Amino acid sequence: MYILGIETSCDETGVAIYHSQRGLVHHLLYSQIEMHSEYGGVVPELASRDHIRKLIPLIKQLLHESNLTNDDITAIAYTAGPGLMGALLVGAATAQSLAFAWHKPAVAVHHMEGHLLAPMLEENPPEFPFVALLISGGHTLLVQVLGVGQYELLGESLDDAAGEAFDKTAKLLGLPYPGGVKLSELAKSGHARFKFPRPMTDRAGLDFSFSGLKTFALTTFQKSDQTQQDKADIALAFQDAVADTLAIKCRRALLQTGLKTLVVAGGVSANIKIRATLTDMMEKENGQIFFPRPEFCTDNGAMIAYAGYQRFLLGETQDLEIFARPRWAMSEL
Ligand code: KG4
Ligand code: ZN
Repeated sequence: MYILGIETSCDETGVAIYHSQRGLVHHLLYSQIEMHSEYGGVVPELASRDHIRKLIPLIKQLLHESNLTNDDITAIAYTAGPGLMGALLVGAATAQSLAFAWHKPAVAVHHMEGHLLAPMLEENPPEFPFVALLISGGHTLLVQVLGVGQYELLGESLDDAAGEAFDKTAKLLGLPYPGGVKLSELAKSGHARFKFPRPMTDRAGLDFSFSGLKTFALTTFQKSDQTQQDKADIALAFQDAVADTLAIKCRRALLQTGLKTLVVAGGVSANIKIRATLTDMMEKENGQIFFPRPEFCTDNGAMIAYAGYQRFLLGETQDLEIFARPRWAMSEL
C-alpha cells in the first residue's frame, strides 16, 4: 500500500510517498527559509500563505515523478499538530479534501511522532524498545519508546527547547535566520576559550533547561570585544554546553531504563557536534545509537508518510473533520 504524507506545521512544505514493501518511494521538500530570512524568523501568516501556494503543485509533482496516480494511494497522512495553527490548517484541509475527493481515509499524525520514527526510514533501523531524544525547534523530549504509540515521557525542557536556544543565541550574536545552522557553522572557527554551564546536570532528574545558556552567551558577548572571533568562540562554547548536557541526560535515561539503544531525532540532531558527542557517549556505554539522515532530521514529508503508515496499520483513520492542534502533548497519543 502507498501512503501519501503531508507536512506543513512550520516553514517547510514536505510531501512523500511511503510504500509498505518498497519503503520510501519519493519525497519533495520546499523550504520557506529564503522568504522568512528577510524578517529574521518565521512569520506565521506568510508561512500559511506559502503552504497554500506550494502544497498542491508539490503533491502533483510527487505523484508524477513516482509514476503513481491518486488511485494508487491507500491513505493520506498529514501533520495535525503541534505547530503553527494556520500552517497546520493548510495541510489538514488539503489532506481531508483529497481524502474526500479520492474516497480514501485521512490519518492525523503527531509531528513529534514523525520525528521519533524518522530513523525507521534508514537502511539499518533501530529495534524497540529504546530511549528517544527528540530535539527540535519547539520541543526537547526524552522518551522511553516500547513500540509505535507506546511512549513514556522521561524528561523535557522546562523553558526553551534546544533548537529555540540555538536560534535565540544565534540572534543575539547577530546571526541571520535560520540561527541554529548558522551558529553551528560559526562554531567551526571557534577556539575553546569559554566554559559554559551544563544546566541541571548537577541534580537528579531528566528535565532540561536551556534558557540560562542563552543569557550566559549574552553576558559573555557583552563583556567581550564583540569581534567575529569572540562570536565564534561563544558559538562553540554554547554548542559544546548543549551537546554535553544532552549526552549527560541521555546516559542517565539509559541507566534509569536499563536500555542500550538511543534514537536521536528532530532538527537539532542534524548538528554534527551533537551527533559526535552522543555517538562517543554511546560507544563508551557499549550501546547503539541511531539518527535519521541529516535531511530527515529537520521537517520533511517522509517522516509523516511513515508515521501515517504506522498509524494506519493501527486502524487510526479519521472521519471528515479538519483536525489541527497547535498544542498537542505526546503523552496524549
Ligand atoms: O525539527 P525541526 O526542523 O522543526 C521543528 O519541529 O521545530 O527543528 C528546527 C530546529 C530549529 O530550531 C533549528 O535552528 C534547529 O532545529 N537546527 C539546528 C541545526 N539544524 C537545524 N540546530 C543546531 N544545529 C544544526 N545543524
Ligand atoms: Zn519538526
